[in-house]
Amino acid sequence: MEKKRVFKMAIMALLLFAFIAVPAVSQAGNAAEGEKLVHGRPVANCVACHHFPGIVMPSTIAPDLVDLMNNLYAEKDREKLRQIITDANKFFPDTMMPSYGKGKLLLSKEEKSLSPEEQKKLVDKRIDDIVEYLYSLKKK
Ligand code: HEC
Repeated sequence: MEKKRVFKMAIMALLLFAFIAVPAVSQAGNAAEGEKLVHGRPVANCVACHHFPGIVMPSTIAPDLVDLMNNLYAEKDREKLRQIITDANKFFPDTMMPSYGKGKLLLSKEEKSLSPEEQKKLVDKRIDDIVEYLYSLKKK
């Protein structure tokens, strides 16, 4: 009897773990990392211009991204979103939005002395994380 219960609990724990762990590894980017970047760490600071959840005094100088993620961008637009963040100027000439894939805005001071290949890898990864975070804003 007792053994059976332990076995049942172990199965439940495993299932729980699978539910938590699987979504995190099956995605390209990491939404939690993306959220940190969007809110300013190291320096993406999207919140300076765009509204995101949890901002007390949201900026209104740029489109509300919660709104856009729910009404404009679908799952198929992932690559487009990635490109906008990489090179905003290509889509919106004269925009004040930085082209995050071109400069070193997504790198910390120390990371700026890494090799160009390593820098690019970090920047690409961070843009993936940001995109993942943006998709997490969609109402389920
Ligand atoms: C300095 C202000 C500023 C910052 C910082 C900024 N943006 Fe923007 N962004 C804008 C503006 C303004 C627009 C609207 C395009 C235009 O007309 O310039 C825009 C447009 C966009 C769009 C396209 C919206 C549409 O209409 O389809 C996306 C997506 C976006 N920003 C995401 C981001 C993300 C993610 C970050 C952070 C990594 C960021 N932005 C940082 C100002 C900013």
